[in-house]
Amino acid sequence: MSASDSKKSVCILGGGGYLGSHLIRALLEETEYKVRAVDKTFEKLTLASPRLERVQASIQEPGLLESVTAASEIIVSTTALCTPALYNKRPVEVIEANFLDLVPLVDLCTRQGRWLIHFSTSEVYGTYPDRMNEDESPLLLGPVQKERWTYAAAKQLLERLIWAHGQHRGLAFTIVRPFNVIGPRMDYIEGVDGEGTPRVLACFMRSLLYSEPLQLVDGGRSRRTFVSVGDFVDAVVRIVKRPECCRGEIINIGNPDNDVSIKELAEKMVSIYQSRHASGQHFSLQNIGGEVFYGPGYDDSPQRIPDISKARRLLDWSPSASMDDMLPEIIQDYVSHYSGAVGRK
Ligand code: UGA
Repeated sequence: MSASDSKKSVCILGGGGYLGSHLIRALLEETEYKVRAVDKTFEKLTLASPRLERVQASIQEPGLLESVTAASEIIVSTTALCTPALYNKRPVEVIEANFLDLVPLVDLCTRQGRWLIHFSTSEVYGTYPDRMNEDESPLLLGPVQKERWTYAAAKQLLERLIWAHGQHRGLAFTIVRPFNVIGPRMDYIEGVDGEGTPRVLACFMRSLLYSEPLQLVDGGRSRRTFVSVGDFVDAVVRIVKRPECCRGEIINIGNPDNDVSIKELAEKMVSIYQSRHASGQHFSLQNIGGEVFYGPGYDDSPQRIPDISKARRLLDWSPSASMDDMLPEIIQDYVSHYSGAVGRK
């Protein structure tokens, strides 16, 4: 680390959230940067450090983005409405949160000469059926009537705005495309500390904790590649440390080796939960149609496999955690955190 690094400060918008809170811990451990965390709540950000400042505010608050961009050299934007159940139920808010609210940030970073590291999404590739490459793959979204794609479209337009500011107005940027990052403290358990359908891992955890059938949308045939949150934040810390090679780049962060169908994920989670937390208990898997589970306008990516050759090359990074490494720890974390609350119901 150079001497000037210790003077720098990084602002994490969404620093109280799942990815933001894990990233902050890693930044404090791996760098000497000062970290300013901006969020509406900080339940997930429990650590304390003299180099960590919490700013409790919404990014929509007047003057907030101006003040944090003025005070920090690097801005990492992680705020998003990012659960698929919202894309076709609250599409206007999804477009606002993932596009409109962040347009002023892009402009401010350009004008103030800040490095914007923006968390986009693997969903921008949509239904592209092959290995997804940042610089070559087309982005294939469904029709407007399939509101599932509001999120991916909003995220894609923000990427295009950032790219245009980079090419034509001198913005220093890096776009990160996370591929299904899983880990402790990800989504809530519906009815305990959140409402509505969360992402698949938390849906399955809720079913396990309540001894209910795990719901397989369209038979659980869609495939995902899951990356551990530890591998993910390791890659982002490396981006922060390597501005010269990462500026102006779009980078996939995922683990192509952890390619499983959702049915296989359910079976793995049942098997781990049964052997460690509920011996003798039987769990069933139940098929359900996508539009029945999520409502009209739902659609899905049949698979999502990242090409991570760019991340390997630029960051000297490789993901290491397999599904079997990750799942027992994540399940244990949910059990420790929620079994009391679930048991009392
Ligand atoms: C997610 C979200 O869009 C974003 O959070 C994010 O950008 C991205 O993917 C990511 O995590 O990288 P998706 O993978 O479709 O999208 O979200 P999940 O809710 O985790 O669903 C994965 C699959 O499981 C889908 O095929 C879904 O239909 C299925 N599913 C979900 C079930 O079979 N059962 C459930 O109870 C829940």
